[in-house]
Amino acid sequence: MTKPCVFITRKLPEDVVAPLSAIAEVEMWPHEDVAVPNDVLVEKAKRAAALLPMVSDPIGEQVLSAGAELKVVANMGVGYDNIDVPAATRRGIVVCNTPDVLTDTTADLTFALLLATARRLVEAAEFLKEGKWKSWSPFLLAGADVHHKTIGIVGMGNIGQAVAKRAKGFDMNVLYYNRSRRPEAEAELGAIYRPFADLLAESDFVVCLTPLTPETRRLFNREAFRRMKRSAVFINAARGAVVDEQALYEALVHGEIAAAGLDVFEKEPVDPAHPLVSLPNVVALPHIGSATYETRRAMMALARDNIIAVLEGRPPLTPVNR
Ligand code: DGY
Repeated sequence: MTKPCVFITRKLPEDVVAPLSAIAEVEMWPHEDVAVPNDVLVEKAKRAAALLPMVSDPIGEQVLSAGAELKVVANMGVGYDNIDVPAATRRGIVVCNTPDVLTDTTADLTFALLLATARRLVEAAEFLKEGKWKSWSPFLLAGADVHHKTIGIVGMGNIGQAVAKRAKGFDMNVLYYNRSRRPEAEAELGAIYRPFADLLAESDFVVCLTPLTPETRRLFNREAFRRMKRSAVFINAARGAVVDEQALYEALVHGEIAAAGLDVFEKEPVDPAHPLVSLPNVVALPHIGSATYETRRAMMALARDNIIAVLEGRPPLTPVNR
């Protein structure tokens, strides 16, 4: 019997792929740091029973309709806005993501970004390296306190709750906004629900952790930034398109908010010449929320195991459309 074909859109470690190679003919895009071109992806999809894409690979109609044999798309990421899930569902294709395994790692990065932005860590490190440190001065690179302030978390899923836990360790007052109330976060973390507009007005730190959906696209628009305190710090570790970047730029330049920490951008990789990136009060990172060796390997393994389960006729471990 011929083995089913699996296409993986980046080069992953051999030991991670080995269990899959035992049951399938596995082909990997041979580069770790270069994305597979769309025409190659479409071509590979034609033979594939399974695809293992990165969150940056668009899996839309073109790829899905090419994949006549396609049974499963196992995304390496908890977010899956790169996949046209309704189109996959119509074709009976299972879509999986990698929840849970990246929760704490992403929460760590989100909080690190918040601290780095509030305390101007990147600017301070550059200042020293550039030989600008001439004296200890009363307000040299002074930032904003984090402890005992109010954090407003927009999107209180697993990562939002893990950020709330970290904020509690800093004696912060935790507000949250979510599509539905989270009684467990209210009981266990003392998080307080606020309507979106109230959260924006009351928070010292506004942290975006909501998935990108038609409802959340450009949720952070001109009006949202205008509602925030002039001292507010905005953090986005979710998806770039949840923010109107032009509106954020203007809010930062006109002093409507104080600073922003951004791990994600509408177009990635972001152009280093992007106006937002050059602002001194912006800390910009290249989408590294889940980027630790341990977590990235766990994400790869979960995506792999989802494929193995489906190809062996078992239920997928973490489907998003079943
Ligand atoms: C995810 O898992 O969706 C992240 O954005 C990738 O690190």
